[in-house]
Amino acid sequence: MKRAVYPGSFDPITNGHIYIAERAAAIFDELWVSILVNPQKHYLFSVEERYAMARDAFSAFPNIRVDHFTGLLVDYLRQQDLQVIVRGLRAMSDFEYEFQMALMNRQLAPEVETIFIVTDAKYSYLSSSAIRDIFQFGGSIESMVPPCVIRHLHRRFFSDSQ
Ligand code: PNS
Repeated sequence: MKRAVYPGSFDPITNGHIYIAERAAAIFDELWVSILVNPQKHYLFSVEERYAMARDAFSAFPNIRVDHFTGLLVDYLRQQDLQVIVRGLRAMSDFEYEFQMALMNRQLAPEVETIFIVTDAKYSYLSSSAIRDIFQFGGSIESMVPPCVIRHLHRRFFSDSQ
């Protein structure tokens, strides 16, 4: 049974992430969408919120499971007996960072493979940071994220007393 992980910050998850996960889930028996928890990094959404949004987005996919991890990705793969890392590519500008990360992970864990899935052209401009900015300044993001993300963004920007 081939099991892969699609790791990321998912702050928040976008339709571009969902596209990559769906394509990866068609290749592997099981795909884990795993959310990084990095205590050094500031996220808009807590891990619980990022987890809830990803769970909602993949509820119709029986072979996609949502999880979270902290520390080194390769340690997590070994602990969970996952063999493959899936990453999405939107543009050449993604490639350098992804290539470095894949080589670093191979240095740390030679048995782990990284594969890249190219996004659909309509998602090539999409990023979580753009979603956060566009929403905050009143732009429309309906075609870019699932409805549960819009609900969470509303709550974060317009309901929270902070
Ligand atoms: O969505 P992102 O922020 O581009 O995802 C980056 C992620 C989570 C894949 C990467 O930062 C990661 O794997 N972090 C865990 C720490 C780690 O293993 N670092 C060594 C690889 S360079």
